Parts: sequence; C-alpha cells; structure tokens
Amino acid sequence: MPWRINQLTETASTNDDVKRAAEAGEAEGLVICAARQTAGRGRHGRAWESPQGNLYCSVLLRPNDLQNAGRYSFVAAMAFYDTVRQCLPIADITLKWPNDVLVEDEKIAGILLEAGPGWLVIGMGLNILHHPETALYPATSLLAAGGGDKPLDEILDMLLQNVDHWYGVMQKEGFAPVRAAWLKRAHKGRLSVRLSEGTLEGVFADLDAEGRLGLRLADGSERAISSGDVWLGAGRQGRTR
Ligand code: BTN
Repeated sequence: MPWRINQLTETASTNDDVKRAAEAGEAEGLVICAARQTAGRGRHGRAWESPQGNLYCSVLLRPNDLQNAGRYSFVAAMAFYDTVRQCLPIADITLKWPNDVLVEDEKIAGILLEAGPGWLVIGMGLNILHHPETALYPATSLLAAGGGDKPLDEILDMLLQNVDHWYGVMQKEGFAPVRAAWLKRAHKGRLSVRLSEGTLEGVFADLDAEGRLGLRLADGSERAISSGDVWLGAGRQGRTR
C-alpha cells in the first residue's frame, strides 16, 4: 500500500480528520498522525489521553468486505502485536479481546475502528513514553516496559508495514488466518466481562468466525460475546491495578 502520510503537530482527533477525508471521497491509504491530540477518543465514547511522546495515527481503508468491518480490529491488533514485538523482543505480549495489546498484562495500545459507507478508519494509539495512571485498565508504555528507545517515525513505519501485511492477508485469504494468528497470541485464562446487562466471569474459550469472544462459564456452557469490556482475572472490573 502506498501510504500517504500527513503529520500534524496537533489536532483534536486523527480519527475525526480521516473520517472527514473519507466522507469527502479520499482514496484508501491516507494516514493522519499527530504529535498530540486535544480530544483523542477511545472505545465506547471514552477519552484517550494524548500527550506528546506517544503515537497517534488513523488510516483510511476501503476494504471489499465492509459488512464484516469488525474483523478488521483483529487486523490492527496483529499489526500492533508485531510492532510491539519488534520494539520489545523478549517481553510477554498478549492480545485481549477485542483489540487490546498487553505487555505483562498491562495495556500498551488501543484501537478505535469506525466505518461508514465504503470506508473504514482504523485509529491506533501506542503508549511510547507515557501511559495513564488511572485508566479503566492497567496501562504501560514502551518506555516503562524497557523499550522506548526507537524514534517515533521508525515505529510508525513498522506499524504501517504491519498493517499493510495483515490487511493484505485479510483481503487475499479472508479472516481465517488472521483469526488463527490472533488466537495464538490471545491471553488465555480467567476473564471478567462487563456487559450492558451485568458482569460475566469465565475462561477464554475462543474467537469465533464472526470475531465474537467465546467465554466458558462455570457451568461449562460457552457464551458468545459481541460487545463488552473485558478484564483479566476475576472481579477486577474498573480497577486500575
Ligand atoms: C481504546 O479505547 O482502546 C481505543 C483508543 C484509540 C486511540 C487512537 S489515538 C489515534 C486515534 N484518534 C483518536 O481519537 N483515537 C484513536
């Protein structure tokens, strides 16, 4: 993919910028990055703290299977996994449904997927020098995990190459190889899931072909979850440590 990279010093949200460009007819491959964001957005309408020193970028894609847009969050998660692995060669890196990247069980990156008619925006934030102390999930940064020595430009290049790779896999071979790769790296163990109707506890069982989380409950049944907040362990919802 010949990425067209637009580097800004400051913006409200790179996702908003790329969405506007998408709606105005911009071709696939646009990337907007900002050194800092004044209104960075996370999943479920939450704020994403965006001080200078971390990576904030959004890419515009126009995939041929937008009816399954949610599956692209696993494309982005795999791209982030590979990038963090290149920065932290021996760290314990795992993936938590739907699209968090964890280092030693702490969140290092976030992905915000937004789709509209004919377009998909993948917003990616990677904690390089800073991480929030009081986030919904325990968080870390490349610096705190013993990395953080690579320049931001180099990390962005690696990330875009990895997005290109996994996007290509998805376009040519479909979701199966992306799902298999994600499953291999998934955090397997006890999870707490907060749903709109309450909290469920269980053990990670599967990522299904629709991208839903399979949770094995205490009675042995498996529940497919398509939207919710997930914590590692039991009874840890909303705790920061
Ligand atoms: C999450 O809640 O985990 C998703 C966080 C996504 C943050 C990125 S930073 C670049 C892009 N612009 C935004 O406003 N959000 C995404």
